[in-house]
Amino acid sequence: MPLRVDYNLGAIRLPRDAVAARTPSLWRYREVLPLVAGDEITLGEGYTPLLEVAHNVWVKDESRNPTGSFKARGMAAAVSMARHLGARALCAPSAGNAAGALAAYGARAGLPVTVAMPEDTPRAFFEECRLYGATVHAVKGTIADAGKFLREHGPENAVDVSTLREPYRIEGKKTMAYELVEQMEGEVPDVVLYPTGGGTGLIGMWKAFGEMAALGWIRSGAMPRFVAVQAAGCAPVVRGFEAGAASTEPWPDPQTRAYGLRVPSPLGGFLCLRALRASHGIAIAVDEPAMHRATTDLAARSGIDVCPEGGAAWAALGDLRAGGFVRAGDRVVVFNTGTGLKYR
Ligand SMILES: Cc1ncc(COP(=O)(O)O)c(C=O)c1O
Repeated sequence: MPLRVDYNLGAIRLPRDAVAARTPSLWRYREVLPLVAGDEITLGEGYTPLLEVAHNVWVKDESRNPTGSFKARGMAAAVSMARHLGARALCAPSAGNAAGALAAYGARAGLPVTVAMPEDTPRAFFEECRLYGATVHAVKGTIADAGKFLREHGPENAVDVSTLREPYRIEGKKTMAYELVEQMEGEVPDVVLYPTGGGTGLIGMWKAFGEMAALGWIRSGAMPRFVAVQAAGCAPVVRGFEAGAASTEPWPDPQTRAYGLRVPSPLGGFLCLRALRASHGIAIAVDEPAMHRATTDLAARSGIDVCPEGGAAWAALGDLRAGGFVRAGDRVVVFNTGTGLKYR
């Protein structure tokens, strides 16, 4: 069962305008993060640009984080807390981006890192991890097999910072939602499209909207309609959503070039489903040709370094407009969760 961090929000005074003058990183939301000042391992993560790409449509460009993806947010918080609590070594399985982020933050913290990735993960992810001095394993199968490999053969003294097996990655990732509200000057977007694999981004943002209501940043209950975007070749959340199920079923033989979405049995699948239903959202799958077309279309029209996962979210927006879920006048945020460079 995933762990979750809660704060005594009633005792925290943090008006939105109080953070305006602070450092442009996710640590500007210090009061709702687990560490005291000076205890964080940071590479300047967060506070990524929110770029308007069409009327009422913005891209939150997470490629601008250290190591080129939103995974930097989660790893900054997780590695900081692990070190704070006395960890001597760290490990995690990954689809690619989380491994690069863990390797970098581990290097910054002076802690040895071991990662395992599916063997067909693009080379750049392996090279990046080695560059930061991590021990890297290529494993046959998916991220689920990589996780199993580490549990059986990983270093015994290493703290496992896998998605949702510790509670702090969510805390780092939730800051994406704080930034959205800050960058939209207190407004809440109507729709947020998020490429969903393990689901931590979605679950973290759902948590953050609840926190922001308690802090008085937004009115009680205000929340965007969340859209979980998955690849047609690995869509356990979509299937669970459409079936009206409370939890996800493992996806057999997952296939997609959007490696971050190749998560066949997300530990937090049930939480994604709850977030989607609580926000009156939806889950949608995008096939590979549509994802590819949308990746190049968004990059060419915006100048943003779009990854396949971001392309999937852009493709989903077209489908949801055509289907009527996204209506004229809706203010929409599409997440580009990372750089496309490492996939080429
Ligand atoms: C670029 C990219 N987008 C999206 C995801 C999915 O993230 P989450 O676990 O938050 O669903 C990943 C995860 O590896 C990723 O690397």
